[in-house]
Amino acid sequence: MSTPLIKVQQLGLQFVKRESTTTIFKDLSFDIREGEVLCMVGESGSGKSVAAKSIMRLLPEPPAQYTQGQILFEGQDLLKLNEKQLCQVRGKKIAMVFQDALSALNPVYTIGTQMVDLIRLHADKKLSRKVALSEAKELLKQVEIRNVDDVVKQYPFQLSGGMRQRVMIAMALSSKPKLLLADEPTTALDVTVQAQILQLILKLKKQYGMTVLFITHDLGVVHEVADRVIVMKQGELVEEGSKTDIFTRPAHPYTKQLLSSMPRIYFEEVKL
Ligand SMILES: Nc1ncnc2c1ncn2[C@@H]1O[C@H](COP(=O)(O)OP(=O)(O)OP(=O)(O)O)[C@@H](O)[C@H]1O
Ligand SMILES: [Mg+2]
Repeated sequence: MSTPLIKVQQLGLQFVKRESTTTIFKDLSFDIREGEVLCMVGESGSGKSVAAKSIMRLLPEPPAQYTQGQILFEGQDLLKLNEKQLCQVRGKKIAMVFQDALSALNPVYTIGTQMVDLIRLHADKKLSRKVALSEAKELLKQVEIRNVDDVVKQYPFQLSGGMRQRVMIAMALSSKPKLLLADEPTTALDVTVQAQILQLILKLKKQYGMTVLFITHDLGVVHEVADRVIVMKQGELVEEGSKTDIFTRPAHPYTKQLLSSMPRIYFEEVKL
């Protein structure tokens, strides 16, 4: 569990627009270790989503501009890859799920069509649509969707929020990624569905041997899923530690402040 899968080193990022330049990261460093669930927490605007999107190289460059540093993955600096090389990594070895599945899915195609296209795109060899569709159904079963024959014929708007999130996770899994970046994947869901999706991610992580970066506002979620935690504030990493360290021995005032807004039950459970 201690080998780093991703090493973000001294990353500098700014958004350059005609009228202004905004610095997001001056010098951000953190590792994601193989096999762990690393939770990234921090206030709104602290740079969590931007950090994940940097790993996926999803930010349009420009306006995004990396001013220094590296993002190392399997001996390669992701910041140095060209578009063609990135296609071998993005969505394939590293996949991402977002908070808002509705906007991440294409509204005009059925779930089946979108999954078939994606599976064929990521396949090492040429796949017929028929074979890809049966793979799609298999993936939907893995994310515990029961009526897969109906779901593949439906459009995103016809599904509930929880179902859409399951579909997005299934799509992320289609390439058997080594790293899953989950950016607040349960925030928009009600509590019961949220718990089911968290359990699902943990189950799949085990099954697929994935590493997970889990971004969340919710320390209850951190308590449930994290091995390690990093705390972000205004583009800086202010604290890093095991879940137990963060919950029982927080060092930074900002972490203490985050914890003070939590129900006591979490502290007591961790101490047991
Ligand atoms: N395309 C962009 N152009 C300019 N600034 C941007 C862009 N995308 C993000 N930012 C800025 O980067 C900073 C970090 O944003 P980010 O979305 O990563 O925050 P976050 O920690 O994910 O917040 P939240 O918890 O609300 O999702 C913010 O100040 C945001 O305004
Ligand atoms: Mg965000």
